Amino acid sequence: MDVGIIGGTGPAGMGLGARLAAAGLTVGIGSRDSSRAESAVRDLKERWPGRSLQMTGAGNEAVAGADIVVVATPWDGAVSTVESLAGALESKVVISMANAMVRQGKEMHPMMVARGSVAQAVAAAVPGALVAGAFHHLPARGLANLDEQMDADVLICADDPVALASTSRLVREIPGLRPLEAGSLAIAGAVESFTAVLVSVNIRYKAHSVPVLGGIRGGEPV
Ligand SMILES: NC(=O)c1ccc[n+]([C@@H]2O[C@H](COP(=O)([O-])OP(=O)(O)OC[C@H]3O[C@@H](n4cnc5c(N)ncnc54)[C@H](OP(=O)(O)O)[C@@H]3O)[C@@H](O)[C@H]2O)c1
Repeated sequence: MDVGIIGGTGPAGMGLGARLAAAGLTVGIGSRDSSRAESAVRDLKERWPGRSLQMTGAGNEAVAGADIVVVATPWDGAVSTVESLAGALESKVVISMANAMVRQGKEMHPMMVARGSVAQAVAAAVPGALVAGAFHHLPARGLANLDEQMDADVLICADDPVALASTSRLVREIPGLRPLEAGSLAIAGAVESFTAVLVSVNIRYKAHSVPVLGGIRGGEPV
């Protein structure tokens, strides 16, 4: 399985991409400017020389050809970006990890998005894609530190069973992460908004990684 990350040159896309590549997947980091993606991947491989990460940098359009595509752009760029890639995303599992929020002083405030969430707006923009929302609340810094195993649950929202199953499989590829079915895409807005609360708490307590605060961890199923 290979994964393409649109808007992958930011902390979230690079962190998730590094984790997936460390787990043995082939990852394409996408950018509006392919040279930026190439340079980001070069830097990452230099940071982790012993890990043989199967990662390449390319334009967003090229990485949208992967088996599974993650949208890791800022929330206000997600819809226009996927719209421009609609052909490549047709029938694909597309995972939106974007959260609509703005910083107000020491807090992050959730934004109201048309359709209710970024994930739903993405689904409306590319109706031929199988859209899920996931990875919203995993801090990039925790993802990027490959020396520390993750320890978190990942809430997944999806209407389509294939999107749900594929996203769950992808989450399970990363040691220490457990997929949890949160509900339909209609739930995604609540997950995106609650992530603003988690980030605000992290800012207040100066915490950055999943095991401290910001991760979600439930008990064992009964
Ligand atoms: N940071 C975290 O800890 C974290 C964790 C979970 C989820 N998220 C979510 O994941 C997304 C990415 O987070 P981030 O911190 O990595 O964001 P970011 O650095 O602000 O943006 C990621 C990349 O998106 C591209 N981009 C910027 N503006 C764009 C636009 N208007 N249209 C299309 N592409 C654009 C840029 O790449 P190019 O210039 O190379 O195209 C940028 O490097 C956000 O929606 C965030 O809410 C973040």
